[in-house]
Amino acid sequence: MIRLHPSPTLVPPAAHLNTVCNSDVNSSLPSVPLLNNVSTLTKIHKQPLLAVKFCSCGRRHFIESAAATVLPILCPSGAFSLDSNNYQDMLKRIRPPRPDWYEELYASVLNSFTKSYEAEVAVYKSQLFANLRGKAKEVLEIGIGTGPNLEYYTGDTDVQIFGVDPNKKMEKYARAAAVAAGLPVENFKFVHAVAEAVPLSDCSVDAVVGTLVLCSVKDVEMALKEVKRVLKPGGLFLFVEHVAAKDGTIHKFLQSILDPLQQTLADGCHLTRETGKDISAAGFSDVELSMAFLSNASLLNPHIYGVARK
Ligand SMILES: C[S@@+](CC[C@H](N)C(=O)[O-])C[C@H]1O[C@@H](n2cnc3c(N)ncnc32)[C@H](O)[C@@H]1O
Repeated sequence: MIRLHPSPTLVPPAAHLNTVCNSDVNSSLPSVPLLNNVSTLTKIHKQPLLAVKFCSCGRRHFIESAAATVLPILCPSGAFSLDSNNYQDMLKRIRPPRPDWYEELYASVLNSFTKSYEAEVAVYKSQLFANLRGKAKEVLEIGIGTGPNLEYYTGDTDVQIFGVDPNKKMEKYARAAAVAAGLPVENFKFVHAVAEAVPLSDCSVDAVVGTLVLCSVKDVEMALKEVKRVLKPGGLFLFVEHVAAKDGTIHKFLQSILDPLQQTLADGCHLTRETGKDISAAGFSDVELSMAFLSNASLLNPHIYGVARK
């Protein structure tokens, strides 16, 4: 189950320690290479996390006293829980509610007109989700939308998916996608929230998924901080995003001109973000990032996709 702490500040150090030590994500998720492919553009490797080493030494007393100093860094106390109103306040502040008709229209358009896009991007998504199959038990998806990624868990009935989205009208489509993927109903939970304030406790999930969402969040840096906060040490962030074209190209010129219109029509989606740079700078221990052009994505090109490890 996804661990939801009533209040992260009430969790004693030993309980935090169990979250880290019981995590099987470090041993079961693959180390490098995370992508079996093609043109990896960026690769960042940093030192392995200290607490992961502590967990394998077997000296519990030493671990518990060390944990009090080390774990606050790895698992800083989060500020949200499903029981609290904090994340709802943040939701209202970060993404004030849109009119019902707008949210419904956007959700139904997304549900109906992205089939050819999904067919084309499937080759990249299949590669990314192979990193999780049968290994990640608790997964957060930020900006789950209509749930096009849920099909990648087909046959994986153990996985618990926690789908966050500020547009409530996405819920029925995401639920239908979960059913179509054969997920038990209780294994999918839709939560009305934003990626900038996720109502999950620190170090609580094996993986976070985000596709075409960092273009739409209000604060990319804050969202990435949340991704890192909720991931267990060694946990993976899978991403697929469209980003700004190269400076000086016609493509970039058109993106710049049409960016305001795109934000209005597509619920805050930006055409000119440099999300690859943001992910690379977010402090993950390891980032593998590749680039692709999709014929069905028009100005939503190029795409970046990859895996970042906490
Ligand atoms: C282009 S859609 C992508 C949906 C889905 N991930 C996909 O791949 O089809 C962007 C999604 O991000 C959601 N969104 C917008 N702002 C958000 C935020 N601050 N936090 C989380 N999701 C957000 C939208 O409601 C929408 O569902």
